[in-house]
Amino acid sequence: MQQTETKERKKVIFSAIQPTGTFTLGNYLGAIRNWIPLQEEFNCIYALADLHAITVRQDPKKFRENIYEAYALLLACGIDLEKSLFFIQSHVSTHAQAAWLLNCYTQFGELSRMTQFKDKSARHTDNINAGLFTYPSLMAGDILLYQADMVPVGADQMQHLELTRNIAERFNGIYGNVFKVPEGFTPKVGARVKSLQDPTKKMSKSDENANSYIAILDKPEVIMKKFRRAVTDSEACVRYAEGKDGINNLMGIYSAVTGKSNAEIEQEFDGKGYGDFKTAVGEAVVEELRPIQEKFGKYIQDKAYLKECYEKSAEIARKISQRTLDKAMKKIGFVLK
Ligand code: TYM
Repeated sequence: MQQTETKERKKVIFSAIQPTGTFTLGNYLGAIRNWIPLQEEFNCIYALADLHAITVRQDPKKFRENIYEAYALLLACGIDLEKSLFFIQSHVSTHAQAAWLLNCYTQFGELSRMTQFKDKSARHTDNINAGLFTYPSLMAGDILLYQADMVPVGADQMQHLELTRNIAERFNGIYGNVFKVPEGFTPKVGARVKSLQDPTKKMSKSDENANSYIAILDKPEVIMKKFRRAVTDSEACVRYAEGKDGINNLMGIYSAVTGKSNAEIEQEFDGKGYGDFKTAVGEAVVEELRPIQEKFGKYIQDKAYLKECYEKSAEIARKISQRTLDKAMKKIGFVLK
């Protein structure tokens, strides 16, 4: 733990995920799985973005359960608290403070252009709240408070990353070098995992059709069933090509999990039907998720351990982030406490 505070010359990685329902294979391949090896080389700071989650109405009991589940699940995926920090965003109040400050350096027009805002406001027409609109400023605060060098995310978050960079550059342009301008990066394969039912859309846990996504905690038989039902095409030939969105998506998943290239996959399934291919993809995913599901089962039963973990990390995160917040506030002209 001490390491994170003292080894400041290591590059800093920051990323976060919303604890809204169980994570999907998209979250896993696009983000979480990439967080794990980074811990060997970098100073990694990870968070559960619970403040972001309330931009959509949450059922209180379910929300609380989701937060515990998400914390346990990410530990099960391999976040190692000997090497990294992993805390709950709302436990570190500097994030909400930074969001307010940065809101005042973010333009209405910039926020209006965010595709996620446009999508979510179209889907939740009864609750287009101001938080949904200013969500990217909170995300910018998360990242900039830790002077993060790099932010591993799926492709859908890159637009928010670009905005974070713009906000940081704007602030630095006025006050001098306050924030590190971070780089976003996405994995080569798995950056954009698509819905199994409509492969033109991203795989999302908020999709009403549960057959459209694989949840990391889905049982093996459920995973196999969902892959068997995945939408494909009528060509019956496993090859990567324009217009074959369903097959392209399954190839992307298979490639991310097995490390095989598209050419190798095409060769492996040469002359075989989609049924064989879907079974192979399902089995590979089941095997990838099996150890995570087993570990999750242990962590989720030990709330005291989870509390110990998130409290320890939050304490350190408060100190690190307060330094940056103070620096920014001093530059603006606030009288510090
Ligand atoms: P969230 O919770 O929607 O998603 C978490 C991570 O999963 C990635 N992801 C995907 N990748 C590939 N294919 C998919 N179908 C797919 N669906 C989701 C996302 O790109 C993301 O990396 N605002 C963020 C959370 C956040 C954050 C931050 C991220 C809050 N503060 C600071 C980075 C830095 C979000 O809602 O992600």
